[in-house]
Amino acid sequence: MAAPSGVQRGLEDVVALESRICFIDGKEGRLIYQGYDIRDLAARSTFEEVAYLLWYGRLPTASQLADLRGRFAQLRTLPAPLVERIESMPLESTPMDVLRTSVSALALFEPEETKPGASSIGGAQRLTAALPTIIGAFHRRRAGLGPIRPRPELSQAAYLIYALTDREPSELEARAVDVALILHADHELNASTFAARVTASTLSDLYSAVTSAIGTLKGPLHGGANERVMELLNEIGTPELAETVVKEKLSKHERIMGFGHRVYKVEDPRATILREWSRQIGEAKGNLRYYERLRKVEEVVHREKGLYPNVDLYSGSIYSLLGIPHDLFTPIFAASRVAGWTAHVLEEYQDLRLIRPTAKYVGPIDLTYVPVAERSG
Ligand code: COA
Repeated sequence: MAAPSGVQRGLEDVVALESRICFIDGKEGRLIYQGYDIRDLAARSTFEEVAYLLWYGRLPTASQLADLRGRFAQLRTLPAPLVERIESMPLESTPMDVLRTSVSALALFEPEETKPGASSIGGAQRLTAALPTIIGAFHRRRAGLGPIRPRPELSQAAYLIYALTDREPSELEARAVDVALILHADHELNASTFAARVTASTLSDLYSAVTSAIGTLKGPLHGGANERVMELLNEIGTPELAETVVKEKLSKHERIMGFGHRVYKVEDPRATILREWSRQIGEAKGNLRYYERLRKVEEVVHREKGLYPNVDLYSGSIYSLLGIPHDLFTPIFAASRVAGWTAHVLEEYQDLRLIRPTAKYVGPIDLTYVPVAERSG
């Protein structure tokens, strides 16, 4: 639908603020965190280094990195009353609802961090450390797995896999998830980060901002797309059927999840990297059926619609091969993006300006108030 004059629907192309955290070049397909190309970070760094980079604006030294790893390990444990709350949540709840509610509840136990203007990198570290534990605590209960332990020797990626599967991952598996966490850690003013910044711009606290962000990430047009990609793969069954199933959906004007992007007009560089990891994990597991179907879907969607894959096309195939259920994919996204959300919130506090756009009013004016007893119809 064309935008009415003077209205930028979806705030498309509106430059809302200045930021030093993340740059997307949608024409060249480049993604930069604090000056570093995502391709370099994915090839050579770890999620812990990237979180440090997003918060402090520079890469950590070896001792700063060791400190951060130690902090994460320490901060993984949740307050006992919060664990009890998670244990009393309905088993059929969606993990994203559990995550949103639990982050909001965690704030009740950390009053220092929730005073207006008091939010700090300490709060950002706490949330980043706690998210995998929250998701794990809920999932383990519904899956009948044993209780979660802090496992200080594990990286964030390995801890996340352990939290969700109760098994220690191989080096390759941990590295695949580490790369996925690096690639999802920030993405400029995407909808959930914008929601976090809007909340922070009222001088509300970090935990409230992250609660807003989780609620926003939940939608299928944002964080929920990779789950839907796996549904499509299951529907396709074999690579030979990809052409028929995809064409049928396109003829009904259905969207194919994992394709298209508001900012990238070429292939999303995160998809390029994850495609390779999907193949590597597939080979290691002796199971290339997801990868082969995805390649075929890509070919058909590009030929028919000229659309390129986005970050969500390949991530789900990697998580599935690790034995992680589909409804945990968006929480995994959150466990990574929390680093970016919190970096943006802290940046917002540095240069605070209440975010409050205006709407073009298209309703009536000057109506006459009629008392309720005199109203008809
Ligand atoms: N499948 C099929 N057609 C798609 C499509 C997709 N995934 N994404 C965009 N299109 C089509 C639209 O139907 C539209 O076609 P039309 O002009 O013939 O009506 C055109 O491309 C432009 O789409 P529009 O919705 O204006 O683009 P956008 O910038 O608002 O969309 C997304 C961005 C991400 C919302 C959109 O590409 C989408 O819905 N993708 C699927 C969900 C997804 O993968 N989300 C994760 C994003 S990282």
